[in-house]
Amino acid sequence: MTKLVMQNSTYKIIDLPKILDRRGNLSFAEEFNHIPFKINRTYWIYDVPGGETRGGHAYKENQEFIIALSGSFDVIIDNGKERKTFSLNRSYYGLYVSKGIWRQMENFSTNSLALVMASIPYDPFDYIYNYEVFKGHVK
Ligand code: TYD
Repeated sequence: MTKLVMQNSTYKIIDLPKILDRRGNLSFAEEFNHIPFKINRTYWIYDVPGGETRGGHAYKENQEFIIALSGSFDVIIDNGKERKTFSLNRSYYGLYVSKGIWRQMENFSTNSLALVMASIPYDPFDYIYNYEVFKGHVK
């Protein structure tokens, strides 16, 4: 792996359209519009026992967009230089996370549902599980 993969790493909250209606609200997301990449995979995390954490790794290539469809949870983002916590608790915005960012999810509320849109199919070799290895690439 080269240092190149850690360049241009970024993250940001992206607001989604919100169609207010007395029958109930509606939001949506389109690839290359609200989601800045082609969506090749969608997965969701649910039934998380109290106190559990998910993630705790970085990706070499994969980009993600994370939405709290229901309930709330925190996403801790680390670009190797600074660490930031985003509390996601509404379904009309999400957190975009590029490749080369360490992320961890925690503080899941009861019945929370995390929807994740991903830019590549599942690939176990895309993961960096060792924080020191990750830091080494960011230097
Ligand atoms: P993992 O990405 O390690 O979960 P998290 O980062 O949320 O803790 O994935 C957990 C398990 O699920 C692992 O065995 C791989 C499998 N998995 C898939 O098969 N496909 C997928 O798209 C994802 C995200 C995980």
